[in-house]
Amino acid sequence: MRELFDIPDDVSYLNCAYMSPLARPVLAAGERGLARKARPWEITPAHFFDESEKCRARFASLINARADDVAIVPSVSYGITQSSHNVPFPTGGRILLLAEQFPSNVYPWRELARRCNGDVEVVPRAPDGGWTERVIEAVDSGRIHVAALPHCHWTDGSLLDLETIAQACRHHDVALVLDVSQSLGALPLDVAVLQPAFLVCAAYKWLLGPYSIAFVYAREDMQSGEPLDYSWITRARAEDFAALVNYEHDYQPGARRYDVGERANFALLPAAAAALELLLEWTPEFIQAELAGYTTDIERAAREMGLAVSSMPERAGHFLGIRFPGGLPPDALDTFAAHGIFVSVRGDSVRVTPHLYNDQTDRERFLEILGRIVGR
Ligand SMILES: Cc1ncc(COP(=O)(O)O)c(C=O)c1O
Repeated sequence: MRELFDIPDDVSYLNCAYMSPLARPVLAAGERGLARKARPWEITPAHFFDESEKCRARFASLINARADDVAIVPSVSYGITQSSHNVPFPTGGRILLLAEQFPSNVYPWRELARRCNGDVEVVPRAPDGGWTERVIEAVDSGRIHVAALPHCHWTDGSLLDLETIAQACRHHDVALVLDVSQSLGALPLDVAVLQPAFLVCAAYKWLLGPYSIAFVYAREDMQSGEPLDYSWITRARAEDFAALVNYEHDYQPGARRYDVGERANFALLPAAAAALELLLEWTPEFIQAELAGYTTDIERAAREMGLAVSSMPERAGHFLGIRFPGGLPPDALDTFAAHGIFVSVRGDSVRVTPHLYNDQTDRERFLEILGRIVGR
């Protein structure tokens, strides 16, 4: 798929977990969308709704939900904050998080705990990287009210068995809230199976979309909560611009009440819709299988160099964390970059996150420079 992206031959971009590049059709859709504002007389009331509905429907298809279940927000922190205001949570309740979880799925929960005299419980990292057993253990204890989790850990891709965790949560009446920004798009997920209370995902990583758009799925029984924004566009009959001062008590149906104000972003939504279209065409199943093959080859070679790498199914197929037992050389990232290789460092591991635009050359170039760094 490389020709669909504007990636020069001398760049090996292995950093989708940081942010994905925009594919050419996605960029074109965004540029067309931005250009609309240069001719506002061509922007009709329908433009405030059509693109939003397209995004909702496509995001819903990706997770096996209905368009009605999806809200459009600017960030994961916004979506999780909103979720934290609307999940059932008793005074003195307890929220379960993973160690070193991404902050957007931590701070809102700390605030909820503070407001309600509750507590946050952090699942420690297991030596083998396995989270599922420890999460289940905590949920089974009966002391947890909300489990706010990812599908795979953002630092190293270590995977959670969400199906088993969701089952335990249902059994103990624990509200499951998911931040799937480091997996959705590259890893299949079905909300009909998991039934999370809320699910949030940023568009700019594995959804291959623009920055400053994220999506929220709200389960049907969570769709009558309080929005963060009291916007006009989320109210019933907002389509009738002439009648907007007939203030409405009712909201648009489903999860639309949770949309951010000015959610009809003329530049970003067409880009997000185009990216979702690509993903639906490629399918997360196909992407996961391709990337699993790609990362497994790197895993094998890295292990032969004496580096520590976890295997599937402990890790997700699209994600590789390579640990240097003697510690990561401080200039490793600069050395990679000097050779046109772009990866991330998280803690003591090099995070390698490819996508379908990566080819054989990228893999060989990465392994060659990795070998040189190890050999020093
Ligand atoms: C797991 C995870 N969630 C969320 C985000 C982004 O959060 P926000 O949209 O609040 O900036 C990131 C960014 O790296 C992430 O890794």
